[in-house]
Amino acid sequence: MTDTSFSHAGGMSADEAKACCARTYQQDIVALILGDSYHPGGLALTRRLAQQLGIQPGHRVLDVASGPGTTAFLLASEFGAVVDGVDLGDRAVAMAGAKARDRGLAEQVRFHVGDAEKLPFEDATFDAVVSECAFCTFPDKPTAAAEMARVLKPGGKVGITDVALDQTRLAEELRSLAGWVACLADARPLDEYVAILAAAGLDTMHTESHDEGLATMIEQIDARLVAFKIAKLPAIEEIDFDLARRRTALAAQAVADGIAGYKLLVVAKR
Ligand SMILES: C[S@@+](CC[C@H](N)C(=O)[O-])C[C@H]1O[C@@H](n2cnc3c(N)ncnc32)[C@H](O)[C@@H]1O
Repeated sequence: MTDTSFSHAGGMSADEAKACCARTYQQDIVALILGDSYHPGGLALTRRLAQQLGIQPGHRVLDVASGPGTTAFLLASEFGAVVDGVDLGDRAVAMAGAKARDRGLAEQVRFHVGDAEKLPFEDATFDAVVSECAFCTFPDKPTAAAEMARVLKPGGKVGITDVALDQTRLAEELRSLAGWVACLADARPLDEYVAILAAAGLDTMHTESHDEGLATMIEQIDARLVAFKIAKLPAIEEIDFDLARRRTALAAQAVADGIAGYKLLVVAKR
């Protein structure tokens, strides 16, 4: 759905904000700073999510906003799932597909270009849907939740790990587009995610807090920014170093003040 009337931080339309988010996460500097996994808690949290979802060998799982594909590869290699990853970034999808071929997993893990708000799959296709650090960035969350419910088999589950925050207490600077892309500016409190998912027919079974994972990730981002600056890494010249450090400091403060956190949710299709 094209929503040109919906204005986001930086005055962008919903479509522009989504495209900007996808472009940002495809940059080489992002892979250098974030490593293999683009969400707080890394592989350990993905493993925990898969256990909570009860993923079994042969289950068909959809990873919405699959980014570098790390979540999808873990679900395939450690849990035996057959995984489809979908992401708006065509370069990210091509790179994840190349990794699947390199690892001999091309039959078990496939990546597709697509929008979370219009998933390119038939109804009732998947046993489980996962989405890590991405639901918060979707401009039309009710539509994204409805799409997850649509492609899920009856009784199937959705597992989400995501940034939750109290928008009313967020520093103005983090509401800008850079904050949006960094998963902060359109994140909502946990109970709002629960309500949006319930309205799509997805009832919450379980939630957990993993706020320390977000604090650790922010510390790691800041440490890598400094290390790359000292090493005079060419990619660091592409970003505004002082602004990036200022935003990591604001984000760290938001976590310390209990304004921002990282949550795990498991919901089931009614
Ligand atoms: C923070 S990264 C998380 C990637 C991955 N889930 C992980 O945890 O490693 C957010 C991802 O969401 C993708 N994305 C943003 N909006 C999207 C949309 N509307 N549909 C599909 N993917 C989207 C971006 O391209 C990016 O790869």
